[in-house]
Amino acid sequence: MQMVYQQRRQRVMAQIGQGTAIFASAPPAVMHNDVEHPFRQDSDFYYLTGFDEPGAIAVLAPHHEEHHFVLFVRPKDKEKETWSGRRLGVEVAQERLGADAVFPIAELDEKLPEYLKQADPLYYHFGHNTKLNGRILHHWQKLLATYAKRGTGPRAIADAHLLLQALRRVKQPEEIDLIRKAVAVSVKAHNHARELAQPGRYEYEIQAEMEHLFRLAGGGPAYPSIVASGDNACILHYIENNRQMQAGDLLLIDAGCCCDYYNADITRTFPVEGRFTPEQRILYELVLEAQLRAIDQVRPGQPFNAFHDAATRTLTEGFVELGLLVGDVDTLIEEKKHKAFFMHGTGHFLGLDVHDAGILRNPDKTWQPFEAGNVVTVEPGIYISPDYEPVEGQPAVAERWLGIGIRIEDDVLVTPDGHEILTAGVPKAI
Ligand code: GLY
Ligand code: MN
Ligand code: MN
Repeated sequence: MQMVYQQRRQRVMAQIGQGTAIFASAPPAVMHNDVEHPFRQDSDFYYLTGFDEPGAIAVLAPHHEEHHFVLFVRPKDKEKETWSGRRLGVEVAQERLGADAVFPIAELDEKLPEYLKQADPLYYHFGHNTKLNGRILHHWQKLLATYAKRGTGPRAIADAHLLLQALRRVKQPEEIDLIRKAVAVSVKAHNHARELAQPGRYEYEIQAEMEHLFRLAGGGPAYPSIVASGDNACILHYIENNRQMQAGDLLLIDAGCCCDYYNADITRTFPVEGRFTPEQRILYELVLEAQLRAIDQVRPGQPFNAFHDAATRTLTEGFVELGLLVGDVDTLIEEKKHKAFFMHGTGHFLGLDVHDAGILRNPDKTWQPFEAGNVVTVEPGIYISPDYEPVEGQPAVAERWLGIGIRIEDDVLVTPDGHEILTAGVPKAI
C-alpha cells in the first residue's frame, strides 16, 4: 500500500510545481471529563500518508532540493503511550511511511520555514484546528514581511483540500476494493435486519444487531444509524431509534459500515410485517421507479445533476398523478414545490468520507460529468409528515398518506461503459 500513497503524493506534487502543501492530521480526540473519544484521521491526510495518528503534519515540497515529503510526528513517549496508545515515533515513521525526512512535531516552527521560503504558493486548508491555523498564518506573514528583500516565498495561500478534490473523486482500484468490503458487510447487516424486524421489537434492537455485524468485521457505523419506524421515517436524520415497532409500520433503515476508513451508505424501507398497505405500496413503487431512473443517468459523460433531475421529475409526476400536488410538472419543479415531499438531494460521492470529496460544478455553473471510478449514492425518497401543511395553492393531503416516509439508497460505481450497483445484494423490489 505504501506505493499507492507515494503515487498519490507524486500526483499532488506534479500539480503544485513550485508550491509547498501542508496537510494536517485531524485534531486529537476530544476528552470529556477525562474520557477519551475515538480518534478519526483527517481524510486528506490519510489519503496521502496512510498514517492514522493525531499530532502530525505532512509537507509536500517538490521544489526542495533534498526533501519532497516531510513528516512531523509525535515522538515516542513511554508514559504518554501507556495512557493513550502506541506511537510510531520518528524513526519508525521514517522507515514505514516513505518520508524523505521525519521530525518531532515540536520542531515544526523551527523547520517549516525551510520548506516555505522558496515556495509559491503555500497550500493549506484552514480547518477546525484554530491553533494550527494561526501558526501557519504566522509563518506566512513572517515570510511576506521579508519577501521584498528576498524575492521568494509564498505570495498567497491556496486551499489544500481543493487540490485533492479531483483526485479523490476518481477512486483507484484499491479504494474500490475497500468500498466493496464495507458494502459487503453492510449488505449482510441489512439482510439480517429485514429478518429481525417485527411488531413489538424496538428500533434499537435492529440497530444493535446491524452494528454488531459491523464490529465483527473490524469496522463500525459509517454514520449514526437511522432505524426509523412509522412516522419517524419522515425525520431525515432520526437517530433516537427508541420506538417500539407496530403492525402496519414501514421501517426505514439508513445504515452503513465503515471499514479501513472506507464507507458504505445504504437505505432500505420495508413493512415490518411483510405486507404494504395500498398507500405505502403506491409510494414505494414511485420511489423505486425514481431511483431506477436516476441510476440510469449514472454513467460516464452524464452531468452530475442528471440523476437528481431524473428522480425529481419522476417523483413530481407521481405527486401530481396522486393529487398530492397540483399544477404543471415543470413549473412545480422550477418553483421547488416537490420539496414538500422530497426535500434532499439525490446523492453524493462516497469514499473515505460518507459525503466524499469531489467538485460538482464548473465556474460557469455547468455540472461536471461523471467519469469511470466515481462512486455515488442514489437515494431519492418521499416523506409525508404526519403534520403536513400545504403551501398556498397546494391541496391538503388525505389522512391515509400522512406519516409515510420512504427512501431507497444504493451505492453505484461508474464503470467505463455504464455503472455497477455495488449494493445490489439487498433486495428492493416489492
Ligand atoms: N446516511 C447519510 C446519507 O445518506 O447521506
Ligand atoms: Mn444514507
Ligand atoms: Mn447517502
